[in-house]
Amino acid sequence: MIKPLTDQKIDQVVNLHRNELSGFLPELGEEFLTKFYRASLETPDLVTYVEEENGKVRGFVSYSVNTEGLNSRILKKDLLGFVIVLLRYIITHPLKTVKFIKIIAYPGFSSKRAELLSIAVDRNHRMKGIGKKLLKITASDMKKKGIKKFKISVYDRLPANAFYMKTGCKLTESFEFMGELMNYYEYEIRD
Ligand SMILES: CC(C)(COP(=O)(O)OP(=O)(O)OC[C@H]1O[C@@H](n2cnc3c(N)ncnc32)[C@H](O)[C@@H]1OP(=O)(O)O)[C@@H](O)C(=O)NCCC(=O)NCCS
Repeated sequence: MIKPLTDQKIDQVVNLHRNELSGFLPELGEEFLTKFYRASLETPDLVTYVEEENGKVRGFVSYSVNTEGLNSRILKKDLLGFVIVLLRYIITHPLKTVKFIKIIAYPGFSSKRAELLSIAVDRNHRMKGIGKKLLKITASDMKKKGIKKFKISVYDRLPANAFYMKTGCKLTESFEFMGELMNYYEYEIRD
């Protein structure tokens, strides 16, 4: 059953995010992700749904209807807490500081648009339609908010590209980000 994320399920979403998604956020560690999802509960522009079975989270999706300045809006929810975690990361990983700054300046967050930010399904529960359900609830939720289409970015190397193609997303752009090829898909919400 799909439900909005609650505080009690944050630890399971953090585990899924760390285990199933690649990228820089999982690298920042459990404490950072926990703060991120906790802050998201107080950020109306960032919505997370979970697919649950007997209290176990099998998958989740996060989206925003307005990504402009989203990073800073989230960080402001617990500025001191985030600064402490991030400083600790920079001190222990000095060579990754430049990468970190580039992530914070992710181009997708410089303009106002709707975007599906993360979607992940537990690897033991894939190919059963959970990802599709999470994509559909994102689309129907956005439709209620007057959104007609949204973006999704995904590294070209990931099998998730096939999932997006199968679920009706259109590849609109490919660009280099942090030395890797990234694809932008667009999902048009139909009536
Ligand atoms: C991408 C992901 C969310 C898909 O979840 P899922 O629950 O397995 O997907 P579904 O079962 O709903 O599949 C929907 C359709 O996509 C297809 N599909 C899903 N994953 C696929 C894959 N790796 N290769 C080919 N087709 C795939 C399914 O066959 C299905 O097609 P159908 O409708 O014709 O039957 C999941 O593989 C995942 O968590 N991947 C790791 C995290 C990730 O990369 N996320 C995306 C980056 S933001």
